[in-house]
Amino acid sequence: MEPFRFHMFVCMQQKPEGVTSCPANGSMAVFAALDREIQARGLSSDVQITTCGCMGLCDEGPVMVVYPEGVWYRHVQLSDVPEIVTQHLLAGKPVDRLIWNDSAAMKAMSLEHGEKFRAAMAAREKAGVLPDRLEQMIRGFMPSRCLLTALELNIFTAVGQGANADQIGTRVHANARAVGMLLNALVSLGLLSKIGDDYRNAPESARFFVQGSKDNHRNGLLHTANIWHRWSTLTDAVRSGTRIHIDGDSNPEWTPNFIAGMQRNAKDRALLVVKALGTEGVRRILDLGGGSGAYSIAFAKASPDVKCEILDLAEVVPLTAEYVRDAGVSAQVSLRAGDMLHDDFGSGYNIVMLNAICHMFSEEQNLEVFRRARQALAFNGRLVVQDFILNPDKAGPQQAALFSLNMLVGTDAGAAYSEADYTSWMTAAGFAEVRRIKLPGPSDLIVGRAE
Ligand SMILES: C[S@@+](CC[C@H](N)C(=O)[O-])C[C@H]1O[C@@H](n2cnc3c(N)ncnc32)[C@H](O)[C@@H]1O
Ligand code: FES
Repeated sequence: MEPFRFHMFVCMQQKPEGVTSCPANGSMAVFAALDREIQARGLSSDVQITTCGCMGLCDEGPVMVVYPEGVWYRHVQLSDVPEIVTQHLLAGKPVDRLIWNDSAAMKAMSLEHGEKFRAAMAAREKAGVLPDRLEQMIRGFMPSRCLLTALELNIFTAVGQGANADQIGTRVHANARAVGMLLNALVSLGLLSKIGDDYRNAPESARFFVQGSKDNHRNGLLHTANIWHRWSTLTDAVRSGTRIHIDGDSNPEWTPNFIAGMQRNAKDRALLVVKALGTEGVRRILDLGGGSGAYSIAFAKASPDVKCEILDLAEVVPLTAEYVRDAGVSAQVSLRAGDMLHDDFGSGYNIVMLNAICHMFSEEQNLEVFRRARQALAFNGRLVVQDFILNPDKAGPQQAALFSLNMLVGTDAGAAYSEADYTSWMTAAGFAEVRRIKLPGPSDLIVGRAE
């Protein structure tokens, strides 16, 4: 008995540029359209759609197979999708004009492809060619830098509803020839399209990178552009063991971009944190290094009984004030300018939060902050840390291990830490019932209770 009435496999095998493949012929768009159409027709519980690797029929792609019949389709185009869904999946009649049923030819082509592939791999291996995976890792900065430069120059907003390189160059106050080169690279990355001399935003670019779009992420992403400069110092930072000070850090846009970047991540995660901790019995929260205030805002919205105090650096507090005001929770969220490493925390809190804070500090600084948080908590109050948590051997997950280097190039003594690190500091600071709460996404909570 099959769990689904139909199971479709669509080839999505990525190959190096210039090599024929199903994705190069549009299989990704076909897959996305099939998925949308299947949902729209209410077929998701009858049809399973799965991506698959190369079937050795690349010249005939995009290729897909539909089971239980074992029907092979080739040269499937976006425009074929409604017909496949209506005729095959709904009416049970495969689309004849797309079927490929010359089994002998298919088998011969697939076997020949397999042989050629193995021979090519053996030749590369013998010649000592750098594997694609390493090649891509080494050149990975190029697409990243292209997109960051486009964001810094606000290229996608300048493209607007469509424009040529001269017009865009004038709008972003940059050299037309160079802008043209950048625009062409952005087209090659799928972030723009080009018709004649005119460039247009791809749907994702229009949605996420254009000023005025509801889902515009540009301001938050400019923080990543700032971080780029710091990452360029990684070699020297590794040599010296701490960050190298660079000019970019005094950029006046640094702090607003940084806080916008924090808010971009925090606003959705804050709802997860409120759900994980609950608001029962919670009256006063101290949000250390609250940044955009996203976590305090979420708690204030979750319960009218909760009052939050955000302690952050003097240059950040005016920015925090704007986010709090815009959220309409100023009556519940108060702000304090100060330095959490030295200033008094106050007392009687039910929760002290450290969201994305501990990675900025050394082990000794974190232990000291935890001790002082312990003093600031009421009986049964909770210290809540949210951060990237390293595996016990500290060699993963990848995002946390890379983030640790982000702290090497960006702070005096910060790093990502493991669950064992957090547990030992909380225990040494006098917390009981220390536990990790897993959240969806890259960071988790570590919570300890003051008894
Ligand atoms: C990585 S951000 C996290 C912001 C916020 N908690 C969140 O998760 O979105 C770190 C915050 O700590 C603040 N901060 C850094 N050092 C601080 C210190 N010594 N005292 C108070 N706040 C500090 C920064 O200004 C920034 O708002
Ligand atoms: S890439 Fe799709 S069959 Fe080879």
